[in-house]
Amino acid sequence: MVGASRGLGLGLVARLLERGWQVTATVRRPSAALNDLAAGEKTRSLRIVTDIDIDVDAAVAALRATLDGEPAFDLIFVVAGVATQAGMPAGQMPREVVGQVFQTNAISPIRFAESFHKRVAASGVIAFMTSKLGSVSLNQGGGWGSYRASKAALNTLARSFAGQHSKASWRVILMHPGWVRTDLGGGRATLDVDTSVRGMVALLERCLEQGDRGGCVFLDYQGQTVPW
Ligand SMILES: NC(=O)c1ccc[n+]([C@@H]2O[C@H](COP(=O)([O-])OP(=O)(O)OC[C@H]3O[C@@H](n4cnc5c(N)ncnc54)[C@H](OP(=O)(O)O)[C@@H]3O)[C@@H](O)[C@H]2O)c1
Repeated sequence: MVGASRGLGLGLVARLLERGWQVTATVRRPSAALNDLAAGEKTRSLRIVTDIDIDVDAAVAALRATLDGEPAFDLIFVVAGVATQAGMPAGQMPREVVGQVFQTNAISPIRFAESFHKRVAASGVIAFMTSKLGSVSLNQGGGWGSYRASKAALNTLARSFAGQHSKASWRVILMHPGWVRTDLGGGRATLDVDTSVRGMVALLERCLEQGDRGGCVFLDYQGQTVPW
């Protein structure tokens, strides 16, 4: 789980541990909430790796080296994302801010997947946390322009990534978690973290059990296909 300090990443780790998974969770800096999970009865099922900023290639390479030689992962889920100054029209935002949103939300997740895909089990899943806001066809009203565009870019890059690796049998899932009450989603969001992560984990477990292979799908937390 990449980006597990808080919000959906933290919730996903908690739910996976409840379901009996062995989880490796990465964070940029220590997270008290994640450490609390590790201190519970599931201690041995959770490994926390700190100092993993997905925008820093050297950090991702060091993580890769640390995990070399271990069994393949059933699931790699890149959850980390930002919505910096999302309310401001993209054309009015400082270039460096828009650029950074694209780096973190679109470029870095794909670079992470490029670095780790050989460590994914043949029938495994590489998941990216995207958003319905990244759907081009559903965008009627605009708003959150830079964030939307960064997630649309992530979707396109993930499809390209799956196409480049079409001989691989792992599956790529672009996941929309719903509108969820986190720091990013805000207090007016319609879902709590628990509802969203239960849905996402059930969907991922179904996909793994059924041995769905190859390709790239855009799904919400209830398993419904989201239009591109
Ligand atoms: N909440 C929603 O309604 C909603 C809807 C659709 C999609 N999403 C997506 O869901 C994902 C998680 O969002 P959230 O709602 O849980 O937001 P959140 O509570 O703000 O959490 C964001 C997470 O991303 C991490 N992160 C940000 N930049 C990072 C970087 N460069 N390297 C590593 N980790 C980084 C943060 O770590 P730090 O603690 O170190 O900052 C934090 O763990 C995001 O990709 C977001 O776009 C959320």
